[in-house]
Amino acid sequence: MLARLFIAVFGVILMTSPIAAQVEGPKPFGKTADGTAVETYTLKNKNGVIVKLITLGAAITEINVPDRAGKVANVVLGFDDVAGYQSDRNQYFGCTVGRVANRIAKGKFTLDGKEYKLAINNEPNHLHGGIKKSLDKVVWKKEYVGKIGTGVGVQFSHRSPDGEEGYPGKIDVDVWISLDDENRLEIRYAAETNMKTPVNLTNHSYFNLAGAGADTVLDHGLMLNADRYVPVDKTLIPTGKLDAVKGTIMDFTKPMRIGDRIEKLYDTGAKGYDHCYVLNKAATRLAARLRDPKSGRVMTVTTDQPGIQLYTGNFLFGQKGKDGKEYKLRSAVCLETGALPDAVNQPAFPSIILRPGETYRHACIYAFSAE
Ligand code: BGC
Repeated sequence: MLARLFIAVFGVILMTSPIAAQVEGPKPFGKTADGTAVETYTLKNKNGVIVKLITLGAAITEINVPDRAGKVANVVLGFDDVAGYQSDRNQYFGCTVGRVANRIAKGKFTLDGKEYKLAINNEPNHLHGGIKKSLDKVVWKKEYVGKIGTGVGVQFSHRSPDGEEGYPGKIDVDVWISLDDENRLEIRYAAETNMKTPVNLTNHSYFNLAGAGADTVLDHGLMLNADRYVPVDKTLIPTGKLDAVKGTIMDFTKPMRIGDRIEKLYDTGAKGYDHCYVLNKAATRLAARLRDPKSGRVMTVTTDQPGIQLYTGNFLFGQKGKDGKEYKLRSAVCLETGALPDAVNQPAFPSIILRPGETYRHACIYAFSAE
């Protein structure tokens, strides 16, 4: 009885609030160098927001959003074709990163007395899951297309076998990327393993709210709901401490222009902001707020994760991207939600070890508006 009542009430709610957002696809996007077909999906909502995804790297290739005058522009870096995504111009643009996003010191960690060695792809460290079979480099399977949460989207899945890229255990990963009529782009991750193994997934979208290919993001305003950050050495490995941001150039607890104090970091290994912030507990409501004063576009980030990596595109080098646009130094900002870096070697940081029988979960919502 109660169940039927619930269905009746729930049914009415569903009927009175239909989802206008739609998903189109799959459509062919091209082929990888080894001949694997890559497909693309398009998510659209009633406000003219258009998001594009590809199966290569379960990546977001475009996020088109209106400015305060209603003019729509794509606000993330990307490429027109598979060759662009497979080239060395691609610095993880929009893709799903793992098995362990961010750096692992010297590409080594020990688990239950056994040492594991990973690729050193960012001298002298391991970065973003490895070289050939990191999650950004593989073509994911489409598992489901349709209604997801409050919107519509695509569920991608991928199985990484035991030992791939040096990591222990076989893992099964799912990523759901969906758009709703409130302009919320939601990314949800889940992973399971058959052996103890580290997992830390993220999305590596590069945002410029004035439009991808525009000038630097130094004029963007940024707020981070974080009283502490992770100080790093010159190779960007955590020192092991968590420092207070108060009174330092790292403080974004109140909205600040990204460019106001960044120059003090130009002579460091990071060449700008490339630091993980420890989110305050209330960050489940709002972790970050990014605003472009010219277009009025605003993006908020909410997450259930302990950290957010602020990376101001300090290694972009003027490469050509989508529509022939040039992506110059510091012309985009990444806000990557996830665990703290090098957690496998940092006893004081929250553990990222996933055990058999457990499920890794992570949610991140990028929401867009204009003012
Ligand atoms: C890292 C940067 C790196 C970039 C692209 C970011 O997540 O923090 O140091 O250059 O990814 O690889």
